Amino acid sequence: MKALVLAGGAGTRLRPLTHTSAKQLVPIANKPILFYGLEQIRDAGITDIGIIVGETRAEIEAAVGDGTALGIRPTYIAQDAPLGLAHALLTAADFLGDDDFVMFLGDNLVEGGITEAVATFTADRPDAQLLLKRVPDPERFGVAELSATGDIVRLVEKPRDPASDLALVGIYLFTPAILDAARRIEPSARGELEITDAIQRLVDDGARVRATLLEGWWLDTGKKDELLDANRIVLASVQRRVEGDLDDESEVVGDVVVEAGAELVRSTVRGPAVIGADCRIVDSFIGPFTSIGARTRIEGSEVDFSVILEDCVVRGVSRMEGSLLGRNVELSRTRRRPAAHRFMLGDHSQVEIEEGR
Ligand code: G1P
Repeated sequence: MKALVLAGGAGTRLRPLTHTSAKQLVPIANKPILFYGLEQIRDAGITDIGIIVGETRAEIEAAVGDGTALGIRPTYIAQDAPLGLAHALLTAADFLGDDDFVMFLGDNLVEGGITEAVATFTADRPDAQLLLKRVPDPERFGVAELSATGDIVRLVEKPRDPASDLALVGIYLFTPAILDAARRIEPSARGELEITDAIQRLVDDGARVRATLLEGWWLDTGKKDELLDANRIVLASVQRRVEGDLDDESEVVGDVVVEAGAELVRSTVRGPAVIGADCRIVDSFIGPFTSIGARTRIEGSEVDFSVILEDCVVRGVSRMEGSLLGRNVELSRTRRRPAAHRFMLGDHSQVEIEEGR
C-alpha cells in the first residue's frame, strides 16, 4: 500500500502567511501540520509516500527532505497547476501504479491516526473508503448523503443546500479504480477536477464505496481562528519537558515544553504551551494555548492563546490574545494600552501600536 499526500495548493485563506510559506508547513504546537499526517501514515505502516507539490515545492522539499527524520520514503510529484484533487491524483498515476493507496490532504489533521481505517480497508478491500465527520457548516466541504442502511447515495462538493451534516474528511482510501473514474469527470463550477465527483462516479458505476464516521476531532486549519483552535487542541496533549533555562524569578506551570537554548527571565509560562528553541522571554507572561517558534524574543508582554512563528520580536505588548504572527514579525509598543490586540500578520510584517487614542 502507498500513500499520496497533497501539499500543493495556494492556501489563499491563510494569507498573508501563505504569501511566503506553504499552508501545509504552518506549525501546530511548533510542528508543521504536514508532519502530523506523514507520521500518521507511517504509523499505519505505509512508508512509500508520493507528495504532490506545486508552487511551494522547494519549501516542502526542504522541510521533508529525504524523509529519514520522519521514517518515510517520499517521492515528490509536481502538479503544474492547482486544477483539483482529482487532477492531482491523475498527476500521480505513474507513482501509484496498480497499488491501493491512502490519499491524505496535507492540511488535514485528525485525532487518533489512520491505522484502524487502513486495517479495515485492507481487510474488506472496497473500491473506496471514506471518512466522514459531522460538522456544523457542511456547505464548506464535500457532503455525503447516506441511505437508511448507511450506504453512500450521493456526494456533493460544497453544496449550497447540504443534504446532511456529514462532511468528507480529507483522508480517502482507494483501489486503482479511482484513477479510471477520475479520467471520466469534467471540471466543476470552480474549474477543478473534484475528487468528490470522481468518487460519485465510482458510486454510479456500482462500485463498493464505504464510509466510516470519525469520532475524534478533525481540524481544518484553513483560517486563522481554526488554526488557533487546532493549536489549542493539539497543545492539550503536550507533556511537560523543560530543557531551556529559567532564572530564579521565572516559573513554568503545567504542561509546558521549553526547548533547549530557550531562556526565561523574570517570566511565567502557564501551560499548555510550547516555547521554541533559543527563544528569549523576559519580564513576560505566556498564557495557555500558546506556541512560540524558535528564536522569538518576547519582552515586557503578555501573550495568550496565540501562535507566533520563528524569529519574531514582541516588546511591550500588554495583552495579546487570539493572534497569529508569521515569521520575522516585529511588534513593538510605543505608549498606548488597548486591553487586547488581535492580529493576523504575515512573514516580515512590522507593527507599532499607535500612541494616544
Ligand atoms: C477538499 C475536498 C472536500 C473536503 C475537504 C476536506 O476541499 O474537495 O470535499 O471536504 O477538502 O478538507 P478544499 O480544501 O479543496 O476546498
